[in-house]
Amino acid sequence: MYVVGGSASRLLASELAKCLNAKLAKIEVKRFPDDECYVRIEDDLDGEEVFLVQTAWPDRNIVELVLLQDAVNEFEVSSVATVVPYFGYARQDKQFKQGEPVSARALARIIQMQTDEFITVDVHAPSVMGWFDSTSAKDVSAYPQIGRFLADLGVDMILSPDEGRWENAKRVAGVVGCGADYLVKERIDGETVAMTPKSLRAEGKRVAIVDDIISTGGTIVKAAEQLRRQGASKIFAVCTHGVFAGNAIERLEPVCDRICTTDTIENPKTCVSVAPLIAEEERE
Ligand code: R5P
Repeated sequence: MYVVGGSASRLLASELAKCLNAKLAKIEVKRFPDDECYVRIEDDLDGEEVFLVQTAWPDRNIVELVLLQDAVNEFEVSSVATVVPYFGYARQDKQFKQGEPVSARALARIIQMQTDEFITVDVHAPSVMGWFDSTSAKDVSAYPQIGRFLADLGVDMILSPDEGRWENAKRVAGVVGCGADYLVKERIDGETVAMTPKSLRAEGKRVAIVDDIISTGGTIVKAAEQLRRQGASKIFAVCTHGVFAGNAIERLEPVCDRICTTDTIENPKTCVSVAPLIAEEERE
């Protein structure tokens, strides 16, 4: 069994290889002078069960993913599972205005053409899974692993920054063994959100705001401001996918005591691996 890790997911690929007791394939990835991507798998994958791991964001990593799938399929592999830990474009899961693409569906169609199995983590819109109609598809949840991490930090309240993620917050709180609450959020534009003030009973508490994605950081900043005003003693910002667009980390650091993400997108705030959860799912 081999794990092939694309350049966006080297850390996770290596952890997954350990968890699956598989070999980590040697690969070469480089860019030509015109920025086109070149990949080569140096090991012989004939007869092997292969897990290909590559986050589908930003765009250049999607091209690398497709080339790696093609390279894997040039071998006589026994099976290939494509692990896309962060499925980009999942926020465009429908046509909001006439003339737009359903971007997540377009991506799903491309990925499923070259794989026997598709695995992702905390996909933003569950409808995405329905577009994998010619291959088996699994959406693995990072929240049990996030819960274990927060239990070690002595967190005593979980806050969802919007109602949409309330079920996830309750799930994390169940693992930690603490209470949970949620805020009501309205998105004004891509970078601005408004939050309805709410009494959170956060006085003296160590609170973790848990979301699926941190992008611009606007959502977490607003939630952290409410917690600070209401006397939280510590504020942790935690998510599955740390996109951190633009200066998000600089916006978040002054209002959060700690920022933590999983390794679905490798970034300076990665501190939880989803590899054990993916391996567990595969063993079932
Ligand atoms: C929204 O539905 C998501 O769950 C996140 O809350 C959102 O993507 C975060 O974006 P930002 O960090 O830009 O506020």
